[in-house]
Amino acid sequence: MSAAEPVDLTVADLHPALGDPALTSMNFLNEVSERYPAAVSLAAGRPYEEFFDLAAVHRHLDTFHRHLVDDLGHRPEQARRLLLQYGRTKGIVHHLIARNLAVDEGITVDPEDVVVTVGCQEAMFLVLRALRAGPADVLLAVAPTYVGLTGAARLVDLPVWPVAGGSAGVDLTDLAAQVQRARAAGLRPRACYLMPDFANPSGLSIDTAHRQRLLDLAVHEDLLLLEDNPYGLFHSDDGPRPPTLKALDTGRRVVYLGSFAKTVLPGARVGYVVADQRVAGPGGRVGPLADQLAMIKSMVTVNTSPIAQAVIGGRLLEHGCSLVAANTRERSAYTRNLRHLVAGLARRFPALPDQPDRPAVRWTVPAGGFFVVVTVPFPVDDALLDRSGRDYGVLWTPMAHFYDDTAPVRALRLSVSAVTPEQIDVGLDRLAALITDEVTRRAG
Ligand SMILES: Cc1ncc(COP(=O)(O)O)c(C=O)c1O
Repeated sequence: MSAAEPVDLTVADLHPALGDPALTSMNFLNEVSERYPAAVSLAAGRPYEEFFDLAAVHRHLDTFHRHLVDDLGHRPEQARRLLLQYGRTKGIVHHLIARNLAVDEGITVDPEDVVVTVGCQEAMFLVLRALRAGPADVLLAVAPTYVGLTGAARLVDLPVWPVAGGSAGVDLTDLAAQVQRARAAGLRPRACYLMPDFANPSGLSIDTAHRQRLLDLAVHEDLLLLEDNPYGLFHSDDGPRPPTLKALDTGRRVVYLGSFAKTVLPGARVGYVVADQRVAGPGGRVGPLADQLAMIKSMVTVNTSPIAQAVIGGRLLEHGCSLVAANTRERSAYTRNLRHLVAGLARRFPALPDQPDRPAVRWTVPAGGFFVVVTVPFPVDDALLDRSGRDYGVLWTPMAHFYDDTAPVRALRLSVSAVTPEQIDVGLDRLAALITDEVTRRAG
């Protein structure tokens, strides 16, 4: 827009979140990708598109329609209405989600405690909206954290307090200290958001014993845990998957956030939240937190597209409600890519960590998921990303986008999900050239 263009409003007169880096971050990263379409993208955390199958979408829809008639006993006109009319706020695939959680995760949930949402993003928004009762409320989140969470918190005026992750995925000493610090300041920490499995962006996971200690701490501090788990199924073969926090949760401490974006289709925009916490309402009526979230949802998206839900439902039905079974091909491709990326980094940066005469380039070695974090000996910012796209033909994500402050960060995130091993090789060659040039430039 030119300076001379007439203006009707200014951002300063709109919600303060608008213009905040947390909200502009995703757009900026998308814009950079559009600016350099020929660049190899190790930035995008999207699923691999070659797996998309349009014909399967039609089939899933039919499968779910048949399920409504044959299994649930709906008359054909009722089934048609369920798919095409406005519908139940909490969704129409809740029973299949409950079955999926039982089959894949060993989690027992009442389908009435599930709200099907427009992606996990809406689930996060609903939960944060509900938890932000007043100006004293704060949310804790393991840093670095998913920018979509920070952005959603901004939109509901909920401050996000960082908690150290450390090598264990969450530093429990720091978590307890942040809770105490918030309370001492007259604030009310409502919940702690975390991704126990292959976190975005750190790639770190929390082991089972530490999960148990985290739950004990949550009970002790009377804190909810918001468990976001979009990547848990994409684990390597190195060992069994640890149980989710929700599977270990015997005291309704965990609100579980689910996404079908990576395990079925991002374009369906379907996610969900399991919110079994009991809420006392007026007149002593007690119901699940899910009902309160549904009330908010009814004023945000009314209901999640039943057509989109049906596609997800059909996919679930075709695999006995197991996304583990539905994603064998995906899991092997992502874990292969992850191994390829880590081996490629080791080949290109053979220096030992912190060896004085070589640049200190280090990286995480996650046991699954999409992301690897590379630490480099210089601050990584958006200008460097732009130069990387333009002059080197490779895209990645500056880690600064995942911290809720402006301190320089010497790290970048690489994603293995939307590329082939050959593209990883090309991308890493280009990244290595960028890093070498940057180190030389700064030394001179
Ligand atoms: C940690 C995390 N949570 C939530 C989401 C959003 O999921 P959805 O596409 O279902 O809204 C993402 C997407 O990348 C993510 O990485």
